[in-house]
Amino acid sequence: MASSILLEIVASWSILVVFVVSGSEPSGEAQSLLNWKASLSTYSQLDSWNNNTHSSPCQWYGISCNKAGSVTSISLSSSFLKGKLDNLNFSSFPNLAHLVLSYNLLEGAIPTDIASLSKLTHLDLSINYLSGTLPRSLCNLTHILEFDVRWNDLTGDIDSNLFRNWPKLTYLDLSMNHLSGILPLSLANLTQISRLYLYKNVLTGELDPNLFGKWKKLFDLQLQSNQFTGSIPREIGTLTNLKHLDLSENKLSGSIPKQLGNCSSLTSLQLQSNQFTGSIPREIGTLTNLKHLDLSENKLSGSIPKQLGNCSSLTSLLLQSNQFTGSIPREIGILTNLNYLNLSENKLSGSIPEQLGNCSTLWELSFAHNNLTGKIPLQICNLKHLATLDLKNNSIDGRIPIELGRLQLDYLDLSYNKLYGTIPPNLFGRCIFISLSYNNLKGSLSNNEGCILKEKGLSRRKKILIISSAVLCCLFGALMVARFTFLYWKKKGGMKRKARAGKHGDLFSIWNFDVNTAYKHIIKATKNFDSKFCIGSGSCGTVYKAAVQPGKVVAVKKLHSMKSQEIVDDTSLRNEASMLGTIRHRNIVKLHAFCEHPKCKFLIYEYIERGSLAAMLHNDVEAAALDWVKRLNIIKGVAHALFYMHHGCSPPIVHRDMSSKNILLDSEFEARVSDFGTARLLNPYSSNRSILVGTYGYIAPELAYTMAVTEKCDVYSFGVVVLETIMGRHPGELISSLSSLVARDLLVKDVLDPRLMPPMDQIAQDVIYVIMLASTCLRSDPKFRPTMQKVSQELANRRHSFAQPIDVLSLHQLKDLGMCIIG
Ligand SMILES: *[C@@H]1O[C@H](CO)[C@@H](O)[C@H](O)[C@H]1NC(C)=O
Ligand SMILES: *[C@@H]1O[C@H](CO)[C@@H](O)[C@H](O)[C@H]1NC(C)=O
Ligand SMILES: *[C@@H]1O[C@H](CO)[C@@H](O)[C@H](O)[C@H]1NC(C)=O
Ligand SMILES: *[C@@H]1O[C@H](CO)[C@@H](O)[C@H](O)[C@H]1NC(C)=O
Ligand SMILES: *[C@@H]1O[C@H](CO)[C@@H](O)[C@H](O)[C@H]1NC(C)=O
Ligand SMILES: *[C@@H]1O[C@H](CO)[C@@H](O)[C@H](O)[C@H]1NC(C)=O
Ligand SMILES: *[C@@H]1O[C@H](CO)[C@@H](O)[C@H](O)[C@H]1NC(C)=O
Ligand SMILES: *[C@@H]1O[C@H](CO)[C@@H](O)[C@H](O)[C@H]1NC(C)=O
Ligand SMILES: *[C@@H]1O[C@H](CO)[C@@H](O)[C@H](O)[C@H]1NC(C)=O
Ligand SMILES: *[C@@H]1O[C@H](CO)[C@@H](O)[C@H](O)[C@H]1NC(C)=O
Repeated sequence: MASSILLEIVASWSILVVFVVSGSEPSGEAQSLLNWKASLSTYSQLDSWNNNTHSSPCQWYGISCNKAGSVTSISLSSSFLKGKLDNLNFSSFPNLAHLVLSYNLLEGAIPTDIASLSKLTHLDLSINYLSGTLPRSLCNLTHILEFDVRWNDLTGDIDSNLFRNWPKLTYLDLSMNHLSGILPLSLANLTQISRLYLYKNVLTGELDPNLFGKWKKLFDLQLQSNQFTGSIPREIGTLTNLKHLDLSENKLSGSIPKQLGNCSSLTSLQLQSNQFTGSIPREIGTLTNLKHLDLSENKLSGSIPKQLGNCSSLTSLLLQSNQFTGSIPREIGILTNLNYLNLSENKLSGSIPEQLGNCSTLWELSFAHNNLTGKIPLQICNLKHLATLDLKNNSIDGRIPIELGRLQLDYLDLSYNKLYGTIPPNLFGRCIFISLSYNNLKGSLSNNEGCILKEKGLSRRKKILIISSAVLCCLFGALMVARFTFLYWKKKGGMKRKARAGKHGDLFSIWNFDVNTAYKHIIKATKNFDSKFCIGSGSCGTVYKAAVQPGKVVAVKKLHSMKSQEIVDDTSLRNEASMLGTIRHRNIVKLHAFCEHPKCKFLIYEYIERGSLAAMLHNDVEAAALDWVKRLNIIKGVAHALFYMHHGCSPPIVHRDMSSKNILLDSEFEARVSDFGTARLLNPYSSNRSILVGTYGYIAPELAYTMAVTEKCDVYSFGVVVLETIMGRHPGELISSLSSLVARDLLVKDVLDPRLMPPMDQIAQDVIYVIMLASTCLRSDPKFRPTMQKVSQELANRRHSFAQPIDVLSLHQLKDLGMCIIG
């Protein structure tokens, strides 16, 4: 009896089980995902999405469900999805909270019915090729917390009511699109917003005072590189939690409101390249947390307020290219954390305050093009870390202090002053650039109009930066090249290269068919390949910057045309062209055209504003602008680019020459991998052996004896680049010591780029994680290196945490952790 009841129970259960299984036959959600998949061109990423293995999508790649088996998250970052969102039936996902499709190749518009995702909290469509406008229906996403469409091709005005129903939004990123029109007032409804990024669009109009009232939680506001006009409303003073404010490169005018002094949490204030007038408000002195202040390239006048002395956290103070008058306040001597001080191109008078000698951490100092008088204070010789001293074009008199020769300067410009006496003999010890012309100095060099270029080894500061005593010759050579590039840029008028490439489309497609026209344009723009326009040289050609039409700047790579190499050149050119022609990825430099003219052969690339990562890391000012967040983002971008080349292209493409010279940075510090000249299609059926290419210091060890080129060679080079990005210099011998016992004592904090403040909190965790990943990429046996797929997946999983604080963690411990996590 009892057993038959039991049987009955078992039987009814099994009926129930059968019912559940068969009842979940292709759900609306599964069918919608399959339909979407069918419309996409993608590689193997979505193999698990099929009818056969699971009728429920919950086990599929990138999909998560709730307990009831309904989809709550679609997370397909960097999955090579090419196609449109139109074909995804959003109405079938009543429970979807997370939709993350960043780093793909999605195009077309954001569909209106995306608003039917009524439970959506996180939408990340960043770094795709989406176009069209932001649909107004988006305002119905009332539960949205984070909304990110950064770096797409969105156009049009932002709908005035878009943000009316987003009461919970904390993160909004619409930057790097082509959005126009004014800022809608409904932005003021975002009462919970903490990070707001609208930079690099074509937004116009004034910053409405009503916007600021309700942004009580805002701590990062970036509106730079737009066309905003009018003044900064005084209501800015209500943003008391604001830490970063960037309004640079707009058309803002009027005076800087004193209410900014209420934003006492500010650590970085960037108002450069606008048309601000009036003087710096004294209230600036209340910003005691301020580290970075850039007011350069405005029309500010009056004297430099002594209250700046209260901003004792300042590490960089950039006031150049304004109309400041009066003398340099002696309170400058209180700023003992200062690394960069640029007051050049103003109308400052009086003498250089001797208190400057208290700023013992100064690296770069420029007072050039002012009307300073008096002598060079002896105290300047106390600035032990000073690398750049530029006092050009003032009225400074007296003798050059002999003690100046004790400083180990890289760059010294005292030209166009009234200095007299003899030149201290030891001044030429280590300088790489010296100019003393147009003074009344005695000695063989005083009448020398030009500059003296010396290359007498690494300065002490650079020596400090290099951990081990023995430095690879090659690395040394690279440093010298980088420095001359740096000097070149300095001479050309500084690191700010403003030219921006416009939309190129039409022009270049015409070029593709009319080689002669293109050739003429380029010859004209580069004055027949004048070295003045040279911006670098790659493995098989020289790169020139060419402003082919007003507002249209391109990079032209002219192939070395030595007769004996003709054949080699042709192959590598065609390789490069055909490969790049098929690649479309945000983190890969775009090839506009490829021209074979009887006189020369060249490739036309999009011009990437900031030049190479290598050059930036070797320039102290530029390196300081590359904060930890930017560096992590660069590493991510490079990882995604390589992942795409290795796993998203068929057959896979191996770069073969990954190095920091081949990573270019655009105006927003986004990474673009370039120089595919040496890459070749990796055909799995043919031999991958070929002549050794690559850059010394980045080449995987196995290439020395096997010559077998695989994706794992790129993984190794990527590991070197990651360490270099974090350390600020090539890791050199550290790579080999990672595998030996030497690294046991080396602490993580001691390898971090000393030019940045040590990272904190989550950023510190991410930095540690990235070093650990790099150490796995540098394993000498390629088998044990992770694939770029693994690497980019690891980087996409945002939150990492280590029990040990960064101060005490050693590289060796990291390596062991790498074993556990990556295997
Ligand atoms: C999945 O199976 C259903 C029926 O079970 C079928 O209608 C549908 O076409 C299949 N989808 C695909 C993509 O094979
Ligand atoms: C989209 O999904 C909904 C709900 O599953 C369904 O009613 C509708 O017919 C689908 N639309 C299309 C175009 O397939
Ligand atoms: C928002 O949703 C409501 C209710 O579903 C609808 O009536 C309205 O048209 C939607 N708004 C937009 C702009 O699509
Ligand atoms: C949203 O902003 C509008 C003005 O743009 C205002 O009328 C409305 O009251 C605001 N709603 C909320 C919830 O703050
Ligand atoms: C700035 O702070 C002062 C005092 O802390 C306060 O009275 C004033 O209203 C604030 N100004 C703004 C614009 O918030
Ligand atoms: C600067 O600091 C001094 C002394 O701490 C203080 O008296 C003064 O009010 C401060 N000035 C400003 C503008 O904050
Ligand atoms: C700078 O240092 C000198 C000693 O070299 C000291 O007397 C002076 O008070 C300091 N000045 C400032 C502004 O800190
Ligand atoms: C010196 O500076 C003035 C402006 O202050 C400028 O007009 C002049 O061209 C500069 N001279 C040199 C040689 O740079
Ligand atoms: C520089 O200062 C001197 C005296 O201090 C003055 O005679 C001269 O006019 C000033 N030059 C400029 C360009 O302001
Ligand atoms: C200071 O600013 C000027 C003008 O922008 C620039 O040319 C120069 O390179 C800068 N100097 C330093 C040391 O950064």
